[in-house]
Amino acid sequence: MKVTAKAHTNIALIKYWGKRDEGLILPTNNSLSVTLDGFFTTTSVEFKPDLTKDSFLLNDEEVEGEQSIRVTNFLNLVRELAQEEVYAEVKSINAVPTAAGFASSASGFAALAAASSKAIGLNLTDTELSRLTRQGSGSACRSIFGGFAEWLQGVEADGSDSYAVPIAPKEHWDIRVAAVVLSSKMKKVSSRSGMKRTVETSPFFKGWVESIPADLEGIKQGILDKDFEKVGEIAEANCLKMHATTLGANPPFTYWLDTTMAVMQTVQQLRSAGIPAYFTIDAGPNVKVLYLPEHEAKIQETLQHIPGVTEVKLSRVGQGITYLEDEELV
Ligand code: ADP
Ligand code: DP6
Repeated sequence: MKVTAKAHTNIALIKYWGKRDEGLILPTNNSLSVTLDGFFTTTSVEFKPDLTKDSFLLNDEEVEGEQSIRVTNFLNLVRELAQEEVYAEVKSINAVPTAAGFASSASGFAALAAASSKAIGLNLTDTELSRLTRQGSGSACRSIFGGFAEWLQGVEADGSDSYAVPIAPKEHWDIRVAAVVLSSKMKKVSSRSGMKRTVETSPFFKGWVESIPADLEGIKQGILDKDFEKVGEIAEANCLKMHATTLGANPPFTYWLDTTMAVMQTVQQLRSAGIPAYFTIDAGPNVKVLYLPEHEAKIQETLQHIPGVTEVKLSRVGQGITYLEDEELV
């Protein structure tokens, strides 16, 4: 049976940055994100007895190397869980730039997990699906849910208690996110290798981990109370702390470009002018700006005039996994 699933990316307001187990993808801290409706992946999976290996087509091109190995490694987990030994044909379309800090790994692995587990006959709960998805890419486990979701780091060595849980559905709060595109190029340091280098070498990593519980408590209360300033202030500060750890790594690195800084300064100027807006940045140069619907026109206009900005893409809060009936990739 061929199954097609659609998953949206998410942007972390409290970042996942550090692993305690690289094989099982277990994090050193809880993280919290908002799912975005503007960026998504659609993936179809069909297990076929006549195949001698998995095939992976991304955006209509046959993929070999690292990206296809990650897909096969993930399918091995699905096969193990289902006790089946059959290869799959995977076709995926990213409505999001790949490996450029737009969380294509999140929507990509969430869609792959949903489509492959269903196609092989597993009937997983959302919790089970999130736990499985985590082993493809950590941040992807939050994309099983729409709205706001928290990934619980868990304490068990086998990862059984490390999965995402919903905090509030998308209907809870209409906040918006502007994705400010400066570069859609593949980044030099992937999230995976960047966080590994940070954990292993940055003296700032300890302080980062210690600062998480207070940020989490505050932001969860802020989301429940729909307190935009509280949520924005905590998210922006948390992002800056994450990026600060990379400057302490050996060798040091940063994901920022000069235009990244220009966008950050513009957001701070918007606030000084009385428009509540806050930024957050994942492992890439592009910036996401949080704002409220009533300020959309001003936010868009201001951001797209910053020299070096190529595109501003507006997004609402998105939904969790959906399955497409007509088997068509969109
Ligand atoms: P990003 O910021 O886009 O998440 P990462 O470097 O963290 O960047 O992850 C990108 C990687 O995620 C890709 O190199 C590929 O291995 C994987 N990936 C992206 N899209 C898909 C997809 N649709 N299906 C499977 N894997 C994907
Ligand atoms: C900065 O989930 O891409 O976006 O688990 O190694 O696949 P792996 O890493 P990934 O890292 C995401 C890091 C981040 C922060 C976040 O999304 O929480």
